[in-house]
Amino acid sequence: MNNRQLAQRDLEVLWHPCTQMKDHEDFPPVPIRRGKGVWLEDHDGNRYIDAVSSWWVNLFGHANPRINAAIQEQLETLEHVILAGFSHEPAIELAERLVALTPGDLCRCFYADNGSSAVEVALKMSFHCWKNQGVHGKTRFVNLANSYHGETLGALAVGDVSLYKQTYGPLLLKPFTAASPDAWTRKEGETQADCARRKFADMERLLAQHHSEICAVIVEPLVQCAGGMRMYDPLYLTLLRQACDHYQVHLIADEIAVGFGRTGSLFACEQAHITPDFMCLSKGLTGGYLPLSVVMTTNTVYQSFYDDYTTLKAFLHSHSYTGNPLACRAALATLDIFTEDPVLENNRKLALCMQASTAHFAEHPHIAEVRQTGMILAIEMVADKNTRTPYPWQQRRGVKVFRHALTREVLLRPLGNVVYFMPPYVITEQQIEHLAEVAWEGILKATSET
Ligand SMILES: Cc1ncc(COP(=O)(O)O)c(C=O)c1O
Repeated sequence: MNNRQLAQRDLEVLWHPCTQMKDHEDFPPVPIRRGKGVWLEDHDGNRYIDAVSSWWVNLFGHANPRINAAIQEQLETLEHVILAGFSHEPAIELAERLVALTPGDLCRCFYADNGSSAVEVALKMSFHCWKNQGVHGKTRFVNLANSYHGETLGALAVGDVSLYKQTYGPLLLKPFTAASPDAWTRKEGETQADCARRKFADMERLLAQHHSEICAVIVEPLVQCAGGMRMYDPLYLTLLRQACDHYQVHLIADEIAVGFGRTGSLFACEQAHITPDFMCLSKGLTGGYLPLSVVMTTNTVYQSFYDDYTTLKAFLHSHSYTGNPLACRAALATLDIFTEDPVLENNRKLALCMQASTAHFAEHPHIAEVRQTGMILAIEMVADKNTRTPYPWQQRRGVKVFRHALTREVLLRPLGNVVYFMPPYVITEQQIEHLAEVAWEGILKATSET
């Protein structure tokens, strides 16, 4: 079967995620036959560097021998078992290791099976915890403008990217939305930290006014990924932690996209020296192999649920594949790689290479900013550089970059006008230079057309 034949079969029966299927009339989906390291190979034999880590999940390459071996071994013994009333060693060992690795006093792991479900768990747990503690009236959440936390109704409600959310508005919980600390919006001469402090005033005001109604504040630490890779100073998180303590509001850190080394530290919260009340992890947790997520929380939260059954304080929430053993084994093998290899140190070199290979981009008349946090580098294309006026979204300039990149062995998947690199950590410097070259060509093409 070649690409064309498979795409034809695909379009007869599949409905792809986050896709207007009509787009495939002139650009069919690319059927991938296999992956190895950073490479994906299609059914016509074309190769692509996976510069987006297959939706930000892959850390150590496709078909990683160490993760493959761990899953194969697990497959011989136990593929899955109910996690209520039963348990298994991979889930226990993974929880032990996550407790040891995550900041502060996060000491309890509640598993789910994808990022959005983890966010749902954290929201419900926060609400339920206050109720169990006899604190009444807390029914609302606070989010940041331009945030993203997933697509299920609860997670969508606490996000703020209108492209995904607006249609479903009538169905959703209504959060209080605080200004984003996004450094893109900093004033001339203002540092990122000053910008974070200035923006924090809005959060402070919300908390001061409404804390008695608020269960939790939910944030993506350091990088608002789906919101266009917008980045902010860790100071914001430090101030937020202090305010949440002061106003008796939980802090939920959604590290689903930024956890496991993406931002330069193992967890982004570490850069602000804070411990959230809930930390949501998924994506890179299994090295990008299998769906698994976890919500980590404190003993204080855990104890508020711990009582006789008849008090109905228990957290009666479950998903069929919660804590799947194959996924837990993949996660353990992923953590082994962090232990055995100097991953973060190596990433620092790769991050410098990403920076150096895109250093000239900022001079382009339609590039307003090249920004970076660790292993995430983003390039913002604009219609007018002086006023930072974006290209109208209807022009879909990013799609032009995507299509060009595929002809040059690279999978880039811009978010609107933002081209970004978020590659697996096994990428080489030479491959990064190729990404930069291809991105540059794609941007030239996309910005030269009227
Ligand atoms: C920060 C963040 N939270 C939650 C999610 C949702 O995760 P999932 O797609 O596994 O439901 C995502 C997905 O991109 C994300 O980036």
